[in-house]
Amino acid sequence: MKNQSALLLTLVMAFLRPVFAVEKIDSGSHIYKEVCSTCHDSGVGSAPKLGDQHAWKKLISEGQVIITAHGYVGVRAMPPRGGKEELTVEQFAEALNYMVNKSGGRWSSPDKSMREAINNEITNRKKKQ
Ligand code: HEC
Repeated sequence: MKNQSALLLTLVMAFLRPVFAVEKIDSGSHIYKEVCSTCHDSGVGSAPKLGDQHAWKKLISEGQVIITAHGYVGVRAMPPRGGKEELTVEQFAEALNYMVNKSGGRWSSPDKSMREAINNEITNRKKKQ
């Protein structure tokens, strides 16, 4: 019986692995559509719109660490994590990259040292709230 459940688990994992792999590559656009598009497609509450290079220019120039961290924590009319509490920093960063790269920027997934910098900025920012 024990062996059978182990086998079943192995099979389930083997089946799920490619699903997760695809999900990871596509997660930026996917999360954007699921969460961010509600406001950033049409510019609800003066949200900078997807593809609006003018609106994104200044934000992009502030840098990926700052903008990712501030959006994650929430800033003015932008709710923390776009209102989806369970988003991880990585997921939020992917969705933001997707939006920035459609709006005149050229960002890539944060590497380890950038993730640390983002996490530090998140901690600092939360202390000030
Ligand atoms: C409920 C509406 C709403 C949703 C959903 C939303 N945003 Fe926003 N966002 C806003 C608004 C409004 C602003 C403009 C805030 C301001 O300047 O007052 C904004 C601003 C931002 C900014 C700029 C922050 C800054 O430092 O000025 C970033 C980055 C951002 N959003 C990322 C995202 C991402 C990524 C998602 C999805 C995970 C998302 N938003 C989902 C409403 C939303």
